[in-house]
Amino acid sequence: MTKPPSNSGDLSRREALTSLAIGGAALITGCASAPEPQSPAPHPAPSPNAMTIPTSLTGRHAVVPLPFAPGSLNGISERMITSHHENNYGGAVKNLNRAEEELSRITAETPPFVVAALRERELTFRNSKALHEAYFANLGGNGRRSGAIEAALGQAYGTTARWEQHIRATAMGLGGGSGWALLVFELDTGALRTVSSQSHTQAAATGFPLLVMDMYEHSYQMDFGAGVARYVDAFFANVQWEEVNRRLERALKMSAIARGSG
Ligand SMILES: [Fe+2]
Repeated sequence: MTKPPSNSGDLSRREALTSLAIGGAALITGCASAPEPQSPAPHPAPSPNAMTIPTSLTGRHAVVPLPFAPGSLNGISERMITSHHENNYGGAVKNLNRAEEELSRITAETPPFVVAALRERELTFRNSKALHEAYFANLGGNGRRSGAIEAALGQAYGTTARWEQHIRATAMGLGGGSGWALLVFELDTGALRTVSSQSHTQAAATGFPLLVMDMYEHSYQMDFGAGVARYVDAFFANVQWEEVNRRLERALKMSAIARGSG
């Protein structure tokens, strides 16, 4: 099988513009640095005969393994991170596959309300998959921020401490409920933004996720109960900032190409 295009390295103009066109930057960054799944086989790359291959309806997404030893996090238990990965993320992958399989069977006679419901579920599971992969991939570090992201945050927010106030407050605002707190790179403007999503489907349209924080209760309840602030502290103690810097580097290239200056 032809190897799928890599998410790392130089990006072509077509790849960058396609990412913008679907408004789905969140969907392409999550597994950027994660190992490629071995089984089942990933989607084939487009080919001259791509029109004959239903690449969007195969239902063959695979779970990406945790990029760190599950017992290695500081203050986040192996039991909770394993449950999160297997049940919540794994469930999203499984349900995305089922949604794609159902969508592969729609016809002109399928009731529109059935299609609408399937599309809503498909987007929920697809974004959940991507955001969870980005979340796990930006954990496993020592929490010490460094590199280009430090300067970029300082420029965008005055000081990095001011940005951290913003994202911590954003996360706390989602506590007790559900959602995601994110630092994103706006591909159409080149700006850093701190955003929240109260579900899997409110991601910023052109926001390339740099740092992803899961604020669904399943991400902290087992270890911290209702202690959201202690989870936020634990999250920041484990951020893999090298991965955030790699995402920033890719976002800068993609944004430059998409805006015609790269
Ligand atoms: Fe989650």
